[in-house]
Amino acid sequence: MVIFSGIQPTGRKHLGNYIGAILQYVEGQDRADPAIYCIVDLHGTTVAYEPAELRERSRDTAALLVAAGLDPERCVLFRQSDVPQHTELTWLLSSVTSVGQLNRMHQFRDKAGTARDRVSAGLLYYPVLMAADVLAYRAHEVPVGEDQREHIELMRDVAEAFNKRFGETLVVPEGNIPTVGARVRDLKEPDKKMSTTGGTPAGTVYVDEEPASIVKKFKRAETDSGREIVRADDKPGISNLIEILAVVRGTAPNAIEHDFEGKGYGDFKTAVGEEVAAWLSPVRERYLELRQDTAAIEEIFEAGAAKATAIAAPVVADVRDAMGVGKPV
Ligand code: TYM
Repeated sequence: MVIFSGIQPTGRKHLGNYIGAILQYVEGQDRADPAIYCIVDLHGTTVAYEPAELRERSRDTAALLVAAGLDPERCVLFRQSDVPQHTELTWLLSSVTSVGQLNRMHQFRDKAGTARDRVSAGLLYYPVLMAADVLAYRAHEVPVGEDQREHIELMRDVAEAFNKRFGETLVVPEGNIPTVGARVRDLKEPDKKMSTTGGTPAGTVYVDEEPASIVKKFKRAETDSGREIVRADDKPGISNLIEILAVVRGTAPNAIEHDFEGKGYGDFKTAVGEEVAAWLSPVRERYLELRQDTAAIEEIFEAGAAKATAIAAPVVADVRDAMGVGKPV
């Protein structure tokens, strides 16, 4: 069973990324054969960005994943642009992807807004590159947060369309979206997901943030006018905090509701803040140390790219062959 997932190097990684995705990566590395994790720097070029910063952020993101518990010996950890099969497969898959499908994607519509004609073609193509990422490894399982559901649907459609048109070649992957913590919300505006681009700075908790600052953000988290610490549709703020603490403690949300029965919102927010800060603190410390050694991270990337290429190259060769392009295999 092959697991594949990708993470963007742009933006500072936050509690949503950590709970919704990174924890699942760590858990997957001993369950899969192999587990493959990719820093998707090419996806990072679809919006405005600084070249020097992108390179640094790619290394930082890898350092963060290692700090969180990924072991480059037990998984494949690499940088997308080091393995050219991703871009080649993107082109090949575009023959079974319609412009209409891409135009309908919510993330494209949100990011493009009213400037649909002026955004880069790369932004429209983003989901095809993402499909290529996964399909190049014949991955079965893709751990992601809730916001990637539509992208997973698209890659499944693309794989099915390819197999129908050119014969059984690709594996149709399944998303693995956690039951708790798949959509961590902004602490200040809990109707939104936590995000570096769409959220609020005071409502976004970073994995490498100082513990005191994390506690402060939780103390100032937006709650509702009620008093009860229970999950409910009209309590997005409190529900979010309950889910976060359940993940931190490794228990069910019900257990958190039970533990805090009769307690006030203020005490609850402080408790969640302190536990999150203590939970992230060793990751932060390891990250701050690891990110210094850029040569070591480049070595991880090099070894990872060699392992990734060994898997992806034969798959892309099969795709070329099925499509009748290039030399027969
Ligand atoms: P990215 O880099 O935006 O986010 C990385 C992962 O974090 C999850 N996530 C969240 N989970 C819970 N709550 C939140 N508030 C939250 N915000 C982000 C995302 O769902 C994601 O799993 N398109 C992808 C990157 C990608 C990819 C791939 C993923 C490229 N190729 C192939 C899987 C397979 C993205 O932008 O993730």
